[in-house]
Amino acid sequence: MRILAIESSCDETSAAVVEKNNDGVHVLSNITATSLLMHQPTGGIIPENAAREQVKWILPVIEEALTTSTQGNALEVLKNTIDGIAVTYGPGLIGSLLMGVESARALSFILKKPLLPVNHLLAHLYANFIDNNEISFPFIGLIVSGGHTDLLYFKSHADYTWLGGTRDDAAGEALDKIGRIIGIKYPAGAEIEKRAHLITDSSIKFTSPLLGSSDLDFSFSGLKSEVSRYVEHIKKTENILPEETLNQICFAVQYAIIKVLVRKTLSAVSIYTAPTLLLGGGVSANQTLKKYFVQESAKHKLDLKIYSPLPAYSTDNAAMIGAYALMAGKEADWKNVKANPELYFTT
Ligand code: KG4
Ligand code: ZN
Repeated sequence: MRILAIESSCDETSAAVVEKNNDGVHVLSNITATSLLMHQPTGGIIPENAAREQVKWILPVIEEALTTSTQGNALEVLKNTIDGIAVTYGPGLIGSLLMGVESARALSFILKKPLLPVNHLLAHLYANFIDNNEISFPFIGLIVSGGHTDLLYFKSHADYTWLGGTRDDAAGEALDKIGRIIGIKYPAGAEIEKRAHLITDSSIKFTSPLLGSSDLDFSFSGLKSEVSRYVEHIKKTENILPEETLNQICFAVQYAIIKVLVRKTLSAVSIYTAPTLLLGGGVSANQTLKKYFVQESAKHKLDLKIYSPLPAYSTDNAAMIGAYALMAGKEADWKNVKANPELYFTT
């Protein structure tokens, strides 16, 4: 089966052609336009601006995904090679989501192709199924993105339980907000990782919130305040943050976040005796996070298989929407598919 997948939940407009055959899910094309540069001066996304960019890019991106998936003009490829249309219907920004959802509904209606609405959050985990045929149930899933931090336990595609999540800011959101405080451009996660990598230890230490709590929840807004207080203190004596201090702050922030993510996730792995862990979302592109997971699971003698998507499939992209649709998607009548900005986990 081959599908056209569309993702437009936030500031990325993405379309992909994804196929499932006997040896798994493969990506034939994955095209993404981003309005990221436009949001950097404001240090965050202005929903109205993001939606306007979606309007501009949705059709060119769909066209390019189709024409690069196989030879032929876009309409012919769509009519002759595509068996269904998958689309993110939530969560996300309403104006952005609507562009993808309404485009997919129109295509499904006109071409009489099945429509598969996809939960963006679950798709972040299912990015791991791309070119990977060896994942089996049960598994623990950790979603770490700009908007979400959630732990889930999957017994099957349809049978999963939410175990815990952030009580305030998401891990990526904390990195981005801290980036603003220390003068790193939005989105700050990748640059914080790069700077942290330049040093091996830091005399600066920040608290990993909820590290000792027995639940599987997270909280990252206190970390932002702690960093803010630290920076104010430094700025009493220094006009600007010295490079070395900035790098040390990045190291300490990243460590505080990773430590609690790994501790709580491995605790879920032990409680549910899960042999497999899937990471997903923009923050899962962080190599130090993966390294720490491997290190700590070895230290605790957990026989754990750990998967994280390729960087191109960690941040928002349509290929992961296609992967979810092909592995676990359910067809819906176009008349009943609506954008749902508040969508969370429904089982
Ligand atoms: O999944 P995503 O593209 O968008 C949402 O669905 O939210 O995640 C974006 C988030 C941003 O907060 C960004 O700072 C973070 O992922 N991020 C990273 C890295 N690359 C992106 N965080 C840590 N390390 C990275 N290498
Ligand atoms: Zn996302």
